[in-house]
Amino acid sequence: MYNIGSYEERLKDFNWGISEAKLGYRKGDIINIGEYCSDRICRQGKADKLALVWEGHSGEIKKYTFNDMRVLTNTIAHFLKGLGVNPGDRVCLFMDKVPELYFGFLGIVKMGAIAQPLFSAFGADSLLTRLEDAQTTAIITQKKHVGKVRKILEVLPCLKHVIIVDDDGTKAPREREIAFCMDKALRVENFDIYPSTAETPSVLHYTSGTTGKPKGAQHVHYSLISQYITANWVLDLKEDDIYWCTADPGWVTGTSYGIIGPWANGVTQCVLDVGFKADTWYKFIQDRKITVWYSAPTAIRSLMKEGKAAVDKFDLSCLRHLCSVGEPLNAEAVLWSQEAFGKMFHDTFWQTETGSMVITNYPGMKIKPGSMGKPFPGVSAAVVDMKNHQPITKAGVVGLIALKPGWPSMFRTYWNNEAVYKSKFINGWYICGDRASIDEDGYFWFVGRDDDVINTGGHLVGPFEIESALLEHEAVAESAVVGKPDPVNMEVVKAFIALKPGFEASKELDLSIMNYIRKKLSPLAMPQEIEFVKSLPKTRSGKIMRRLLRAKEWGEEIGDTSTLENDD
Ligand code: WT7
Repeated sequence: MYNIGSYEERLKDFNWGISEAKLGYRKGDIINIGEYCSDRICRQGKADKLALVWEGHSGEIKKYTFNDMRVLTNTIAHFLKGLGVNPGDRVCLFMDKVPELYFGFLGIVKMGAIAQPLFSAFGADSLLTRLEDAQTTAIITQKKHVGKVRKILEVLPCLKHVIIVDDDGTKAPREREIAFCMDKALRVENFDIYPSTAETPSVLHYTSGTTGKPKGAQHVHYSLISQYITANWVLDLKEDDIYWCTADPGWVTGTSYGIIGPWANGVTQCVLDVGFKADTWYKFIQDRKITVWYSAPTAIRSLMKEGKAAVDKFDLSCLRHLCSVGEPLNAEAVLWSQEAFGKMFHDTFWQTETGSMVITNYPGMKIKPGSMGKPFPGVSAAVVDMKNHQPITKAGVVGLIALKPGWPSMFRTYWNNEAVYKSKFINGWYICGDRASIDEDGYFWFVGRDDDVINTGGHLVGPFEIESALLEHEAVAESAVVGKPDPVNMEVVKAFIALKPGFEASKELDLSIMNYIRKKLSPLAMPQEIEFVKSLPKTRSGKIMRRLLRAKEWGEEIGDTSTLENDD
């Protein structure tokens, strides 16, 4: 039996009070995500149950119970407090998927500060933009990443503490640096958890848009109400499940469903801190006896490429329920998963901004391969007309995905950018920025993004950030960055570049530019292809027409270019 029971029944009787009641929360109560994920689970008699089973590069395994997690998150919270970090301060997590990342997240929110997770593959520039915007007070990192922090320290007077979790502290610390070893620190059994209430800020996740710098979507502790119940009903997490979320907590999937949702449900999670390889993944599922698996279409397509023979080398009969998020899950991938694992991947749609799943395929519901499913009970979703933003009632007509604000995990603003936040709401709808249609049975079908943001392997990258970085390369006069179709990653970054006088297109220049972006921003942002052009197509007001270049890459009709004039 699935936790959700019947989707139709839940639609009829749903209100968020159901989730509140399951969590024992009443309006006005103290609600702290850190407490709910560890202390509360211990109080339910699960102190000795495994919370985290972690596997590292060289196959080493670390195991932590819910009580270990309770105490270690206390220890981190206490340490931060001792440094003088205050409630409301932003504390960045900049680490690989090590246990300190997971417990650091909960420790930060336990002491009332705001967790700001950033993907550890980010280069110094990507890091700087986001730390500067958030005026971050402290960063928790590892030796292998601290070099990038040191590079930007001078221009970040606000960043008072650089905490290094794998430093043994024997060498004299550099300016603002401090060593902290979680496993060796004096364990703090009792900590006065910050009495956060529903609207207390909890997490700041940066996401990319078409224009301007990345924006920090700010979430609050009350988001737990959504994350808990969606993890319970959509991921179908049960007492004995062993759950694996492949996402990195540098992105929202890795926090909402790699930390908060599953642990608030008291479920054992496994983490594999190793890069993607089909054999390694299958072995992990087999050895750790994973029952519920939440992953992304790019990973599924990569596994598909390895073929079913690779699957058959392992015993994956432990798998019970599979879900996916981040980019369109094509019908072929869904059908392949049925053939390979005997289970279909259940697609889920949501965003950094929504904080939790909003449109999903439910366990037990008929899957239409290629469709994102139906709205979560309590989420009112529509497809609205692109011009007048009125809901489209006719089946199959493409419009913009729109959500009625009001579900608990909705972001509360963009950090320091209320104007852009407000611009996302039209006619009382939150506009996601994606195009879709709804069929006669109420299933949502994704069509594409409604802006120039590139979705590569489930990660959004903003063209503006890459173009700005490209301009700093000595050879680049101007550039336009668009997504180019890719069979596995769905899209990869392609840059059109006009060179400065005196520079000639060459393979070496290609590589020099690619490496420049990889180091400065991240491997995701690195152009996979560069096309040198004499000039770039522009609107009369001088804006580069990325969409025209993009349409060419996708072999699409360009249509009426006069509409491109109004784009931003
Ligand atoms: C954008 C949000 C929240 C999960 C990680 C991404 C795209 C997300 C799907 C899906 C097609 C999807 C959309 C969305 N997206 N899920 N199931 N099918 N596209 O979070 O980085 O904020 O990206 O990812 O374009 O707006 P994000």
